[in-house]
Amino acid sequence: MLIRIDRESVIPVYEQIKEHIRGLIEAGQLKPGARLPSSRNLADTLGVNRTTVCTAYEELEADGYLASHVGQGTYVTAPDQLVGKTSERRVAQNFTPKFSRRSDFLSTFAQRSETLTGSSRADRILFSGLTPEEDLFPVETFRTVLNSVMRERGRELLQYGNPQGYLPLREYISSRLVRYSISAPAEQIAIVTGSQQGIDLIMRTLTDPHDRVIIESPSYGELLPVLAQYEVDVIPIPVGSRGMDLDILEQKLNEQPARLIYSMPNFHNPTGATMELADRKRLVDIVAQHKIPLVEDDYEKDLRFEGTPIVPVKALDTTGTIIYMGTFSKGLFPGVRVAWVAASREIIDRIVLAKRYSDFHTNLLMQAAITEFCVQGHYDAHLRRLHKIYQLRRRRLLDALKREFPDSVSWTKPDGGYALWVTMPPQVDAEDLLLLAKEHGIFFTPGRKFYMEKDCGKSSFRLCYSRTDAEQIDEGIAILGSLIKKLLKQTIS
Ligand SMILES: Cc1ncc(COP(=O)(O)O)c(C=O)c1O
Repeated sequence: MLIRIDRESVIPVYEQIKEHIRGLIEAGQLKPGARLPSSRNLADTLGVNRTTVCTAYEELEADGYLASHVGQGTYVTAPDQLVGKTSERRVAQNFTPKFSRRSDFLSTFAQRSETLTGSSRADRILFSGLTPEEDLFPVETFRTVLNSVMRERGRELLQYGNPQGYLPLREYISSRLVRYSISAPAEQIAIVTGSQQGIDLIMRTLTDPHDRVIIESPSYGELLPVLAQYEVDVIPIPVGSRGMDLDILEQKLNEQPARLIYSMPNFHNPTGATMELADRKRLVDIVAQHKIPLVEDDYEKDLRFEGTPIVPVKALDTTGTIIYMGTFSKGLFPGVRVAWVAASREIIDRIVLAKRYSDFHTNLLMQAAITEFCVQGHYDAHLRRLHKIYQLRRRRLLDALKREFPDSVSWTKPDGGYALWVTMPPQVDAEDLLLLAKEHGIFFTPGRKFYMEKDCGKSSFRLCYSRTDAEQIDEGIAILGSLIKKLLKQTIS
């Protein structure tokens, strides 16, 4: 099958392959029952990664154009299954909108990320997705709290609210931050619809196109499309076992000023690295000296399962340069979309202004329910339960890795958070491993998703253990270990 791939196009390669095959099917050039080449053969012919072809096939299968059966390969489906699809498609094709450059950037990133991360319900062992396990959600307690706030304050909570956030929640967060040695009164706190929105509002408020924004490399995968949308120049700083390399940070800042720094000093996503106190002090001094705001994304602050907590960078801030973010997504539920930003009054006022013209405010009912849930002590009780469970799972995972993975593979051992970072020898590609793992129903996130730079992170991957129980950990790691050994053998022979 000859498909012309345009590697310069903003349309991802898998999408180009998918569209070409769909065109052939709709034009009748590929008849029902026709067998497609195997993903490996087509990938070799086109000179693309096998994951790319697999993604195109999977999407065509999901759209009803293709079917696959073990031993029979992938073939074109019967015409009656296609009728609905083609007519739907004809309608959709009447109008081709012209999207903004920002939307194009976003689309490219999102599709690339989809090929790397998309998992399905059929996957039995999910080491992907930094998501808390829903089976552990205190649903009944939350329901009781939600009912009571509705009963007592329903009218007020269903009305428009303050863009800065529900005052009792800001007061609760302010008191909670005191525990971490952060002094931030309620007026220096804004409630946001997830820290993802916090990042977006901060970027919108503090950067202009072509400003230099410093991030860690690797970094939080969902940050990268936001940066691309705002068209900033990203300066990646390597992350080691102690977090961002501060020597390189200083060197970059001495070369040229930057507008913003984004960092995850605690349980860095994806490596799990945590910055030590001395480095945090040095980081505060650096940003104060260069007068650059630093976003400290403390998304897993409440999830330390081992060791001694280290004060956030924000607690060491004396000049108002640190913008601190926290969220209820990891320790409680991501679906409620409640997070917060704590910063100087000046910065908070501008963030709130951006929020007001974006979504007015975060869902008031959820803010009130979360407040009540926390004030009644349920959040801390839930965290205590999570800690016990994850202490055991973390140990189980580390033991399994030691037992099953070859000596040439290394991994981080974070004291908390839901993930660790695995580094294989450079000749093993994590995306090849993922293809094999998927056949066993196992999913994880290949390293490439976390890099802005091309060709980085190929032999690394992130393993999340938030949604895997002890048995799945043992089984999943044993299988991954044997697959890595198999790939290693293939690269030697
Ligand atoms: C580092 C980091 N920041 C922010 C977020 C987004 O969190 P939220 O659900 O609060 O938007 C995530 C989610 O995984 C994350 O890993």
